[in-house]
Amino acid sequence: MTELNQQEIIARINKLRQEKNAVILAHNYQLGEVQDIADYVGDSLGLSIKAKDVACDVIVFCGVKFMAETAKILSPDKTVLLPVEAGCPMADMANAEELRKFKRQHPGAVAVAYVNSTAEVKTEVDICCTSANAAEVVASIPEDKEVIFLPDRNLGANVSRRLGRKLILWPGFCPTHMRISKEMIEQRKREFPDAAVMIHPECPPETVETADAALSTGGMLKFARETAAKQIIVATEVGIIHRLKKENPDKLFIPVSEQAICPFMKLIELHDVLR
Ligand code: 13P
Ligand code: SF4
Repeated sequence: MTELNQQEIIARINKLRQEKNAVILAHNYQLGEVQDIADYVGDSLGLSIKAKDVACDVIVFCGVKFMAETAKILSPDKTVLLPVEAGCPMADMANAEELRKFKRQHPGAVAVAYVNSTAEVKTEVDICCTSANAAEVVASIPEDKEVIFLPDRNLGANVSRRLGRKLILWPGFCPTHMRISKEMIEQRKREFPDAAVMIHPECPPETVETADAALSTGGMLKFARETAAKQIIVATEVGIIHRLKKENPDKLFIPVSEQAICPFMKLIELHDVLR
């Protein structure tokens, strides 16, 4: 796409945004050019709240399918458009039929679904959470109840450790975060000994233990603004670095790995938003 083309596309998006009374929401992992034209960029919790509260007729959701589905659940009267049918492999690791079977094996247990799950799975659970509020949601369940947590076994294990409470974990995982290892963090710490480390709780618990803070992507943006550290190792999908740099030009952000890419979060380009 040439510079002129890109400008033309942005101008057309802006015109349509007004004409259709549309709002563009983008997740923190989206391509920088998509984040830059969005009305709101955020984590799953922040985007869900916006989808519910924003006054508009159309939501153009730049993220993956479960996020757009959640927006539609919360705002059934609005038209929700997902520019490209981008899935999330973790969400697809649980389906309603398997979950019904699992629940029969654990009668009386409260089922908690991470928002990274399909709409069909959400109909089978008692409560839904995001990475920003997972520990609070689980803590709200009476201690004498068993808790099934799905689909992310890493987020579940990290919540379990934080609360000191045993959870029944579904065996799902995020392929992007699963690959972020303790050794990768230790290597970066040797290279940048003064850096603070923030990590997403979809990473394995033994990796999370090596970090200073386990946070949702929205939590990471807040941590980056507030910390006195001038160098920060970022253990999550690299898309977030765009906004971290934009908001904190005086700080250095070090991706734990340049390979920490979610291919599904990179499918939407500006011409898709326009279409
Ligand atoms: P956040 O809710 O922290 O933005 O995470 C969403 C996600 O898909 C992480 O892989
Ligand atoms: Fe799904 Fe992982 Fe991509 Fe998030 S980063 S959308 S959990 S595959």
